[in-house]
Amino acid sequence: LTKIRTSAPGKVILFGEHSVVYGKRCLATAIDRRTYVTLEGRAESGEIEVSALDQVFDGPLDGLRARCEESGEEPFGMCLGVILAIVQWCCDAPVLAFDGFSLTIESDIPIRRGLGSSASFCVATTSAVLLKFGKISNKLTDLDKKLVNEVAFEMETKIHGRASGVDNTICLYGGILSKLGSSLDVLPGIQLPLLIIDTLVPRNTSEQVARVKDRLASHSAVGHLLLDTLGHIADEALVIIKRSTAGNQLDLEEQLSELFEINQGVLDALGVGHEKVSAVISLCKKYECRAVKITGAGGGGSLIALADRSKSEGQSVSAALREAGFSVLGITTGAEGVR
Ligand code: PMV
Repeated sequence: LTKIRTSAPGKVILFGEHSVVYGKRCLATAIDRRTYVTLEGRAESGEIEVSALDQVFDGPLDGLRARCEESGEEPFGMCLGVILAIVQWCCDAPVLAFDGFSLTIESDIPIRRGLGSSASFCVATTSAVLLKFGKISNKLTDLDKKLVNEVAFEMETKIHGRASGVDNTICLYGGILSKLGSSLDVLPGIQLPLLIIDTLVPRNTSEQVARVKDRLASHSAVGHLLLDTLGHIADEALVIIKRSTAGNQLDLEEQLSELFEINQGVLDALGVGHEKVSAVISLCKKYECRAVKITGAGGGGSLIALADRSKSEGQSVSAALREAGFSVLGITTGAEGVR
């Protein structure tokens, strides 16, 4: 193969952030934003030429900055390190003994917003490099995908220090991923029009996870009830989604809207809100959009809203949110996995 082109989507968590840490169900979905990798066999022997990485990387990929601060490594170097590690995985021989190639990596997934930019990068790059080294076929069979997932998970762990496997699995298989305890199930995607609203308050996942832990320490019974509720919400959402993929699309969005609203109330009660999160929610409600919730860790970070996109720009909630200084991205869920 002289030219290989792969791509993988980003993701959002729909339901189950925080409660997933306590073994409850989490639902994530692939989104129609992707990382594209082009691999060509034209560099000098033993050399890897990487270009356009700066597009993926006008700042560090998800989680990379903290990791690099810890290890004193340059984030850019860490990305290259991931690429080298994949090559090394393919060659038992020393890493300099392979035919060189060039990699062009481009992405339209915003970084550091919990949208799986790093997992998407790992899956697309791993697929391209494994194809080049003949470790998988371009048919991408189930076995091929399993192998890509294993290697991409290793790379995610390298980037983040620890990883749950949710991000690389959803970016690889696409559709919807349900995680319950240690079991991961992939379901066909449903197309939901979502707004991703960034409060522009940097999220700090470990700080928010600690916040929930504190709440559990001070109010154990109530705290556990709240976590159980989040688990039940994700369970119910899964039933609704499965029913809709079996043909009944009718009130899917309405039913999920209510669950978004309930879920947000519970996350707020767990203490992972923020004044900017509340500001986004009030503004959404003003535009009759009640289906809005935190996605990911909270304490700032991003929210997702099931909003009516048919309204004209003047009346639309996204225009109002942008005017208020938030960043808004319109996406569709249930995207295809690696290609
Ligand atoms: O901050 P994000 O978008 O990577 O999401 C974190 C989700 C949590 O449930 C809060 C933490 C976790 O490890 O699952």
